[in-house]
Amino acid sequence: MNNLVVVGCQWGDEGKGKLVDYLGEKADIIVRFQGGNNAGHTIVIGEKTFKLSLLPSGILRDDKLSIIGNGVVLDPWALKKEIDLLEKMGITISKNKLMIAENVSLILPFHKELDHLRENLAGAKKIGTTGRGIGPAYEDKVGRRSVRLSDLNNPILLRARLERSLTHHNVLMKGYNKPEYSISQIEDKLKEITSFISKFSISVWQELNDKKNKNKTILFEGAQGSLLDVDFGTYPYVTSSNTLAPAASIGSGVSAKRVDTVIGIVKAYTTRVGEGPFPTELVNDKVGEHLAAVGHEKGTVTGRERRCGWFDAALVKQTCILNGVDGIAITKLDVLDGLKELKICIGYKMNNKSYNFLPTGADLEKDIEPIYEIFEGWHECTVGVSSLEKLPKNAIYYIKSIEKYVGRPAYIVSTSPNRNDIIEIKNPFER
Ligand code: GDP
Ligand code: IMO
Ligand code: MG
Repeated sequence: MNNLVVVGCQWGDEGKGKLVDYLGEKADIIVRFQGGNNAGHTIVIGEKTFKLSLLPSGILRDDKLSIIGNGVVLDPWALKKEIDLLEKMGITISKNKLMIAENVSLILPFHKELDHLRENLAGAKKIGTTGRGIGPAYEDKVGRRSVRLSDLNNPILLRARLERSLTHHNVLMKGYNKPEYSISQIEDKLKEITSFISKFSISVWQELNDKKNKNKTILFEGAQGSLLDVDFGTYPYVTSSNTLAPAASIGSGVSAKRVDTVIGIVKAYTTRVGEGPFPTELVNDKVGEHLAAVGHEKGTVTGRERRCGWFDAALVKQTCILNGVDGIAITKLDVLDGLKELKICIGYKMNNKSYNFLPTGADLEKDIEPIYEIFEGWHECTVGVSSLEKLPKNAIYYIKSIEKYVGRPAYIVSTSPNRNDIIEIKNPFER
């Protein structure tokens, strides 16, 4: 069967968790390859709601191997909290079920503090980060001053790593008029967690390339969305990792040749949390309020209200190209039930020029005007519908129009938060 990468094609929160959980049934190994606990993936199984930040969504299935790859930045205390919570909910997590790359970079307390200090200082120009220390931790990784998981079991190496890292960070703390960190303070804190976290540590690249796993089906679980990609997103209002599908390979140590299929997840409308441009946003608008209320559009991680707007096909077409998306999964179709009229953005006008993509280098917050196609809505309830034929004809037309404007076929449509409320048009594991 095909190895799949699942990525969000908008600004995150497209429903990746639900889809990875659903598709995970047919996979053997589920791998997180970038991001950290800035992610919030919600999975609803019957009466239970699980919110995962660092753990791959495969963790809810007992017979699957879940892997956190080297491309992630890992907050060990946040991971412990998440595991403890899941265990309380009846999910067991052993070292045979969860493996973490020994070369993963850690998020340490000063990363979180720096994230907050910088956002506060930026005032109105803040990014609106999740405050989890993601940016500072990735900066340290490429700045070659990270502490990595494998360092925890080597006290001499750990001290050297911390010395290098704190030489940098204490200059910043001084500049912010904050107390400096001492090496022993961080060492002591890390000691609390070392034995817990180290039991999951392995050489992930060797595990995934081992003979016994050569024919296993791998599902790579993206976090954030393509428009938050540090290179191709709405920079600087982005996260600090590459969120696009090719990151699956470098973030896990699996050759790009083994990645067969890319599934792009899109909401039937658009949302964004945090600051930054959003051409189709509905501000002070009844439809915007409907999407937020019916779609329960509140951030999983920070509880912030998500900004809501119309489906932006120009933007999704662009991210489908960047990801090499084979097929899309459209989620939250049910949230559109009852709306009289729907709009899809198919391009933009800016300074009397037309664009069918998001131009780089322009002031996207001010000058951009979306070009819309208008569609008739439907009044029937689509919640829980599980076959295409049972959808209202206007909903089918809306799906077909999304396919046409983004240039990719819909493989899956989701009609409620629940695990099984899915219309599968094509099985993505088969060519
Ligand atoms: P992720 O970050 O991409 O995994 O998405 P989130 O979990 O942050 O946000 C998606 C939200 O929509 C979650 O609360 C899901 O339970 C919910 N959801 C997913 N699919 C559907 C759907 O088809 N219909 C509705 N109504 N809710 C959905
Ligand atoms: P999932 O995986 C939505 C946004 C933040 C902020 C920007 C940078 O649930 O889709 P960061 O803390 O990463 O430095 O914040 O990115 N952001 C997300 N928005 N869903 C997410 O993850 C996000 N992860 C980060 O709101 O605008
Ligand atoms: Mg989310």
